[in-house]
Amino acid sequence: MKPILKIENISKYYTKHGTKDRLHVLDQLSFEINEGEIVTLLGSSGCGKSTILNIIAGFEKIEGGAVYLKGEKIQQPSSSIGVVFQNPTLFEWMTVYENIQFGLKYKKIDKKTERESIYEYINLLELKGFENFYPSQLSGGMQQRVAIARVLILSPQILLMDEPFAALDSFRRAKMQLLLQHLAIQLKCTILFITHDLEEAIFLSDQIYILKDLPTQIIQKVNISFERPRRYEDLCGDLEFMNIKSEIFQQLRHE
Ligand SMILES: Nc1ncnc2c1ncn2[C@@H]1O[C@H](COP(=O)(O)OP(=O)(O)O)[C@@H](O)[C@H]1O
Ligand SMILES: [Mg+2]
Repeated sequence: MKPILKIENISKYYTKHGTKDRLHVLDQLSFEINEGEIVTLLGSSGCGKSTILNIIAGFEKIEGGAVYLKGEKIQQPSSSIGVVFQNPTLFEWMTVYENIQFGLKYKKIDKKTERESIYEYINLLELKGFENFYPSQLSGGMQQRVAIARVLILSPQILLMDEPFAALDSFRRAKMQLLLQHLAIQLKCTILFITHDLEEAIFLSDQIYILKDLPTQIIQKVNISFERPRRYEDLCGDLEFMNIKSEIFQQLRHE
């Protein structure tokens, strides 16, 4: 397994609003992500997960350390790094088709190839029939699928997802987890996933990094080796699944 992303000794402080106090969020944090794996950062709210993701995406500056994608230092946002947030940030005045098309403007491809590519992602994300709808006419889950399509069509080397399903009800959430697993297998994506949901983390991940509170540190790396495609029906009654869940729960409870 080759690491595609290396996070090396990153440190980060925030200045507390209106004061000179500094909040020490990250203290020389290091970890790696292997190509083709789904890796999850699991930790409670406020433990620094989004900060880590925003640094990797090139949105946040750091006080020390570095992040490397395929050996190249990340200094700013780039289309090699796709980002999906909890709230799908779609262009409300554009249709589903136009939203997915948006990032392709900067790529020099002919109209026919562009159209084929857009339809490929419309189909993959199960949006067929909705291409002329506007975001306000779609459910939250569908909006999130458009946001994912819009990013994946640019073939990023890594996809960063910050609690992407947290706003969905449990039924839609389970469907999205299955769809994401399908995409990851089909497109051989490398994904850094953030959640505070334990079952979601175990279901989706190849590796889970369990984080402790500020300044954030990794307290454990858990390897999840269930075969893919995984199904909740199989895992829920599985003894190993229950053991992993209980072990991680104990860890998080002591934090
Ligand atoms: N822009 C900011 N300015 C000051 N403090 C921030 C800022 N962003 C996040 N924080 C603080 O940093 C800590 C980590 O936040 P965050 O990375 O959003 O955690 P998580 O995503 O795990 O909930 C929290 O205490 C939060 O209040
Ligand atoms: Mg967050």
